[in-house]
Amino acid sequence: MLNDIQEVLYDADQIQQKVSELGAIISREFEGRNPLVICVLKGAFIFMSDLVKTIDIPLEIDFMAVSSYGQSTKTSGVVKIIKDLDSPVQGRDIVIVEDIIDSGLTLSYLIDVLERRNAKSVTLVALFDKPTGRKVELEADYKGFVLPDAFVVGYGLDYAEKYRNLPLIGILKPEIYEK
Ligand code: PRP
Ligand code: MN
Ligand code: MG
Repeated sequence: MLNDIQEVLYDADQIQQKVSELGAIISREFEGRNPLVICVLKGAFIFMSDLVKTIDIPLEIDFMAVSSYGQSTKTSGVVKIIKDLDSPVQGRDIVIVEDIIDSGLTLSYLIDVLERRNAKSVTLVALFDKPTGRKVELEADYKGFVLPDAFVVGYGLDYAEKYRNLPLIGILKPEIYEK
């Protein structure tokens, strides 16, 4: 698997350090608010699991599965809800946990859905940000790393469902998806 990586951008230790910093901020910000922390499947599953372990206040978790990339390296622009939340959102402080913001389409769609369901507040936490990919205006409230304009995999992020289990984030060799 590592053979397919052209360049490691951040290794497991660097990621863990950043995740803890984000967890500390969320603990402070949401103390006494019992936030509903939503993992955006599948990509955010590793970040979610590491992040909530660094948050030391009461919270609830839920999962939503959406997809817009499918088997491609480019977004289809159409966001599909594959699995919806179990919990009602009305009146809750929502924290969306996302692995990466690229075009911004997935998240702007999701924020819209949650606001229409009358969330009390919606806060966006993204571990990675690729600002060069933006198609709609969208910023995370809290973010980890800003990434260059390259197709990255690992730490939950896939290419055609592979590489999610790499503990690091790296640039995929173009020959892998160009063939
Ligand atoms: C990826 C990633 C984000 C989204 C970001 O998900 O995990 O959710 O794309 O891209 P955007 O800002 O251009 O919308 P994907 O659709 O590949 O589904 P997955 O999480 O199941 O891999
Ligand atoms: Mn995703
Ligand atoms: Mg994907």
